[in-house]
Amino acid sequence: MSLDADAKKVLLRKIPHGLFICGVAEGDVVNGFTASWVTQGSFEPPLVVMAVRADSTSNGMIQRTGKFSLNVLAADQKDLAAVFFKPQQGVGGRFDAAPYKLGEHGLPILDDGLGGVECAVVGQVAHGDHTVFVGEVKSAQLHRDAAALELSSTGWNYGG
Ligand SMILES: Cc1cc2nc3c(=O)[nH]c(=O)nc-3n(C[C@H](O)[C@H](O)[C@H](O)COP(=O)(O)O)c2cc1C
Repeated sequence: MSLDADAKKVLLRKIPHGLFICGVAEGDVVNGFTASWVTQGSFEPPLVVMAVRADSTSNGMIQRTGKFSLNVLAADQKDLAAVFFKPQQGVGGRFDAAPYKLGEHGLPILDDGLGGVECAVVGQVAHGDHTVFVGEVKSAQLHRDAAALELSSTGWNYGG
């Protein structure tokens, strides 16, 4: 039986997603991009699961360094999410719009987000156009507790 591509697209787009800024760091180079394919994968140890485009700059940086951060945006930070998926002036240029500090594991945590976690890669599946990374949460910084940005509120689609 062949896959019904239209049904697959409609159904997969029903999966609810947040919108996050994933941070990566390799030597002195930092980068960040908007990620929506993110979920929790375990309570203990605390794991998160994130799919990253195979052809992105950040994918290679995560492969080589084995770590990434996830920044949670506030519900009113759609403009910032847009900055982090658009083309940039040089790797890391998107951070001109968003000040950050490096966390204890050397990964970018945005000053203005709700907070961020730093993760060590403990597993990955490279199959298809995204790599699925499993990261163990090693640090967590909460700046403020408020409603988070959700993909459904933006009118954008990433999925299907
Ligand atoms: C709404 C939206 C959600 C996105 N979610 C993801 C995602 O989950 N994973 C991913 O790899 N790229 C995602 N992207 C695309 C990246 O943000 C984009 O490819 C970015 O340019 C990659 O940056 P880099 O090449 O500097 O690493 C998304 C884009 C949009 C518009």
